[in-house]
Amino acid sequence: LDNGLGRTPPMGWMSWTAFYCEIDCVKHPTGCINEQLYKDMADQLVSGGYDKVGYKSVHIDDCWSEMERDSHGILVANKTRFPSGMKALAKYMHDRGLKFGIYEDYGTKTCGGYPGSYKHEKVDAQTFAAWDVDYLKLDGCNIDQAMMPIGYPLFEKELNETGRPIMYSCSWPAYLIDHPELVNYNLIGKYCNTWRNFDDINSSWKSIISIISYYDKMQDKHIPTHGPGKWHDPDMLVIGNKGITLDMSISQFTVWCIWSAPLIMSNDLRIIGDSFKDVLKNKEAIKINQDPLGIMGRLIKNSTDIGVYVKQITPSKGDKKSFAFAYLNRNEKEGYKRIEIQLASIGLTDPAGYYVHDIWSHVDLGLLRSGDSIVVSIAPAGSVFFRADLASLHQPKGKR
Ligand code: DGJ
Repeated sequence: LDNGLGRTPPMGWMSWTAFYCEIDCVKHPTGCINEQLYKDMADQLVSGGYDKVGYKSVHIDDCWSEMERDSHGILVANKTRFPSGMKALAKYMHDRGLKFGIYEDYGTKTCGGYPGSYKHEKVDAQTFAAWDVDYLKLDGCNIDQAMMPIGYPLFEKELNETGRPIMYSCSWPAYLIDHPELVNYNLIGKYCNTWRNFDDINSSWKSIISIISYYDKMQDKHIPTHGPGKWHDPDMLVIGNKGITLDMSISQFTVWCIWSAPLIMSNDLRIIGDSFKDVLKNKEAIKINQDPLGIMGRLIKNSTDIGVYVKQITPSKGDKKSFAFAYLNRNEKEGYKRIEIQLASIGLTDPAGYYVHDIWSHVDLGLLRSGDSIVVSIAPAGSVFFRADLASLHQPKGKR
């Protein structure tokens, strides 16, 4: 969507995969969907320095509203759990230099059973604008599939007419998963800044791998329709959650960066371990994710266990290209995989060579030519991740 927003993939924190629809604040005082949860996470983004590396938004997900609209048909935040209201919560974010995202559903009800926007599109868009919302995730439960190409563009028009810049995330293609012939990403990209197109993630390796496999399979359709202002969203980062090891975290982050996918965490930032925090805050990896070209990397080789990904990055000029590349080990059970990577074998063939940097070990490997090789050892469920700056375009450090 060409509204000036989301020129690089959005980065922030969202509640769903860590806190779902937990509304029992008596039993779960620090883990339920209430205003304190979002304030806590905003505080963590700032005190943990996440905002400094790019995580700039806090997103509410489902289960935030009252079960009924008010007598004027306006959505109301749950009065017990959000006693200060959404405008005050938006202000809390804005006062800290953060953005505020909200959730709605285009259908008659949200997936959690709360009031949906169907036939209330205008008033809801105006309500969100009046609350100073910066981002809307519009889900697609409880609506006929045939309405998707009507409702999502209609909501975009209503958002636009509010005059407030509101980034627009659509779940439109996620609800057409069984009808790929109905999914036209050029059309979706005209109306949405980002969109979900596959199953919800959960905090397991199986879930991460199922998303990666789907994106691998669909890459010829995804890659040409992805870029500044229009991002395929493989769903939230589950790094820092129970069930996700450090190697799995490195892998999810690597692949999401190779894809230039939205980096929206769903975890408990109050209790996350330092090593997971380091993964999420790896500046070199984030730089590749946020590369201004916004190119989605491609799976160029595949075997039973190993996927090889290459992404063009800046600096590039015409057919002179720099790259990021990664090797993902999908097998979480067997031992380390030792692999010799010859640059030419993954398409890095420029005769002048490349300055190669290891993103996870932070080691500079210096100038390597296309015939040179790197030997890596990849942990079960782990990944290696490098950037290769084309030597002829490379500015020595300090001048960059
Ligand atoms: C389905 C979406 O895909 C999830 O991310 C989450 O928003 C839930 N609905 C909420 O009900």
